[in-house]
This record gives sequence, C-alpha cells and structure tokens, in this order.
Amino acid sequence: MSDNISATIDIPKSRFIKPCGMTSDNAPLDPVTIVIFGGGGDLSRRKLIPTIYHLFKENLLPDDFSVIGFGSPPDGDDVSYRERIVLSIKEFEPGLYEKEGFDTFLNHVFFEGGYFDDISKYENLKKRLNSSPGHNVIYYMSVHPSFLPQIINNIKSCSLNDTNYNPRIVVEKPFGTDQKSALELNSLLHSCFEENRIFRIDHYLGKETVQNIIYLRFANIIFEPLWNRNNIDSVQITVAEDIGVEHRGKFYEQAGVVRDIVQNHILQLMAFIAMEPPVGFDADAIRDEKVKVFNSIRMMDDEYVSKNCVQGQYGSGMIGGQKVSGYRDEFRVASDSKTPTFFAAKMFIDNWRWADVPFYVRTGKRLPKRCTEVIICFKRPPLKIFGTACDDIEQSLLRIRIQPNEQISFFTNVKYPNDAYRMSRVSMNFDYKDYFKEKNYPPYSRLILDCLKGDLTLFVREDSIKALWSIVDPIINKLESSEYTCPNYSAGDWGPVEADNLLKRDGRSWYTD
Ligand code: BG6
Repeated sequence: MSDNISATIDIPKSRFIKPCGMTSDNAPLDPVTIVIFGGGGDLSRRKLIPTIYHLFKENLLPDDFSVIGFGSPPDGDDVSYRERIVLSIKEFEPGLYEKEGFDTFLNHVFFEGGYFDDISKYENLKKRLNSSPGHNVIYYMSVHPSFLPQIINNIKSCSLNDTNYNPRIVVEKPFGTDQKSALELNSLLHSCFEENRIFRIDHYLGKETVQNIIYLRFANIIFEPLWNRNNIDSVQITVAEDIGVEHRGKFYEQAGVVRDIVQNHILQLMAFIAMEPPVGFDADAIRDEKVKVFNSIRMMDDEYVSKNCVQGQYGSGMIGGQKVSGYRDEFRVASDSKTPTFFAAKMFIDNWRWADVPFYVRTGKRLPKRCTEVIICFKRPPLKIFGTACDDIEQSLLRIRIQPNEQISFFTNVKYPNDAYRMSRVSMNFDYKDYFKEKNYPPYSRLILDCLKGDLTLFVREDSIKALWSIVDPIINKLESSEYTCPNYSAGDWGPVEADNLLKRDGRSWYTD
C-alpha cells in the first residue's frame, strides 16, 4: 500500500509537533556525568549499570560521558568498582557483555567511596564534577528512601544543585509510603531542584507497549469514537507475576501489593487507557491529561473498600510443575505476616467519558504466569438477531498485552463456516516480535535516555504523586485494619475466590487464557 496519498493531505498539526526531520531521538546529546548514589547497590548492579553499558554499545550516549558511583564500600575506588562492574554485567546480563570495547566503557566509570552523611565526600564529588566543565549532571538516587534527606541536604550544602551543572535528579519508587510522606519528599526535592529537574521513575512507563497505548488510541481514528461509556462495558487490567517476593521480603513486608504495584504501575496503565487526547506528545500535555484521570477516580471509603476490594496472600503451591513455598516462609517475612501479595478491585472513573464503566484491576505474586494486559470489553449489540434466544453473543474484546508476549489482539464474532446460524469468536492478532525486527529496549534504557535529553514525558509529576496517594491511602488504611484469613490462595491460583466473586456478582468474569 502506498503512503503517497496521506503524505499529500495536510491535516492540522499540534503546536508541539517537531519540525520535519527532527525527532528527539536524533537530537545530539550534551556531555553528561551520571552520579549514581548507591552505585554499588542491588538496583545499580542489576539494572542501571547494565543499562548504561547497553546505551554505550548502541552508541546512544554522547562521546563525552562519565558515570560516578557514590557510596559503599567507603574504601572503594575506581579500580575495584570497575572490577565489580564486570562481574555484575556478566552475572545479570551475560548476553550483553562483550570483551571488545568493554575497557573503553570502563574508562568512563569512576567511584567515590563514602557514607551518605560524610560531607567531605560531596566535596570530592564536586572536584570531580568541576574537572568536566560543561557536563550536565544527573543525580540518580538508587538508595533506600531513608537516605534521601541526607543526600539531598548535602547536595544542597555543597551547591551541587547549582544551575551551572544543569542538574537533574532521578528518584526511584517507592516515592513515599503514603500521601504525607510523599508530599514531604516532594518539598525536600523542591528545596533543592525545580520540578522540571525532577525525574520520578515508574519503570512501567518505559515499556514500549505501555507507550504504545497512546499511539494505538491517538494515531488511529477508529478507536476514539468507540472509546467511551456508550460502547465499552468494562475494562480489565491484570498485572500478574509468577515469582514470589524473592530476596525482597524485608521491603515487601512494609510495602505490600498496593504500594508496590497499584499506586504506580496499575494506575499508570489506567491513566493511559482512560485519558483524554492530549494536545501533543509533550510532557505536560500528557501529564495534564493523566492527572485529570487520577483526580476523577472515585474515592474509596471504608464501606466501598469492604465491598469492592479484595486482598490475598499466597500459601505454598505449584507453579510450572515446581513446588514453591508460601509467603510466610519467604526470607525475612514474619511467620504470622498479614501483608497482602494479591489485590483486586472494582474502580470507577467519575467523568463524562467513563461514568459507570467498571475498571476491574488485579495484581499478585505467585499467580499462574507472568502476564500484564489490559482488556477493553465492548458492549454486546443491542438486538440479538442470530442463533437462538438462549445463545450468548460474546463481547468483542480488544486485548493489549503489555508483557511478556507483546501483542494487540482484537476478538470479534464471525459466522461459523457452513452453519447458517452459528457464530464464533475469533482473533486478529498483531505481535510485536513477529512484525518488528527491532528488539525492544529494556524500559530503563528508554527512561535514562529521556533523562539525558531532559524529556519528562514518561516521568511522574508532583501533582500526580499527590493524586495517586489520595486514591490508595484509604484503600491501604482500610485493608490494613481489616481481618482476613491468611494465606487465602495457593501459589499457582489466580488469587482468592473473592476476586472471582467480585466480577461474578456483576455477571462478568476475568478473561484469562
Ligand atoms: C516493581 C515491583 O516495581 O515491579 C516488583 O517492586 C515487581 O515487586 C516489578 O516484581 C514488576 O516489574 P515487571 O517489569 O517485571 O513487570
């Protein structure tokens, strides 16, 4: 099919659209120094350093870049840090490691060993930064949130937030533990950096398939007329994991599933599905629309939560033919823990487009498989004219599978061959891997690259943080004060039976294949 016709049709353009031939992907990047606080820690070794190495291999970093790890061990130096980096990459990303060119990469990497409260180390850091004048500086907070006040105050005391460094700060989730702590963290950050220098990460936003929701909805005219309460019966969002809490028991005991996944990943997915068309693919244009969604999600009081939210915790069971232990037997988990590892809810977005359309969401650990997907369930046609009175017409579904097999599938009813009255639901399928030859970059690559470019589109703005916590705080408060039997689902099940009942009583069921 030729594109010539569409190329000659002049349609109005958003005022945010880039000039022809220029996209943010080919804009040259300024020299940069990335300072990783917690440079020797787990996230850094598993994700950040391998990601930066990946960007280096793909020639996506500016020629003039440096990475400075900061933190433990206090007696660490450049040489020992480089040795640890080689080991980490070989351990966590063995397929990425290539001997050729690796030493060149390592020549860009340095280490400042020290405790976060030791101001002299920040002075050393400053000397290192001053030795590369003209570099933008990114401070990546890959540390436990309890260290943030110390680090940010020391950055301020040593004037490392001076605009000469064109500084940006990246803050990992969890961003606070409730609205109060999140607002305190926002003010702490604002005491040092302007909002447009603050990059709050939710790695789901770096996933290609999550971003693609915006393309699917707004680069095609066919969906938008249907995308509302007149045609959509309900929406299902599933974020299922087959893994347990692994080595993160201590963190998870304090977090629980709602803080870990709902407050961020699930609600971000919901915003992409529900938002109004932004006026451009511009950071604030998109973030303005998302925050409107968050502010329209129906507030959940105790009575609402009791009726429409389900919590669960896994016991032992079988996954993929293997016996796995229950949550209470995991490392650093209390033997009488009540921490939920599963959550399901019916939510509503009280705005013109979505009034009365239920959004059923569920997430959990030790579910039968790893699968993140959104299913748009369309209403049935208004009149039954096929088959017999007692036949069911199945709903048409649009399934957006975020991972692991990235796909978009449209399920519709067609005539069954040779049978005059019979219908059958079939699928039309688009599979990313089959269609595109390019391999998806891991989410961190995209996010780090955007941070180098100063593009905030895929990062969470302060007003969203406030709104997100105002949605989940009442849920957490009610769930934490409620009695429930633990464990209430076996590893390998789709959560407790109440999660199924939540839909069953509305005459619906979870779509799972
Ligand atoms: C993290 C959570 O944010 O997301 C983890 O803290 C979870 O508990 C992980 O396992 C899931 O991410 P992904 O990309 O594997 O779906």
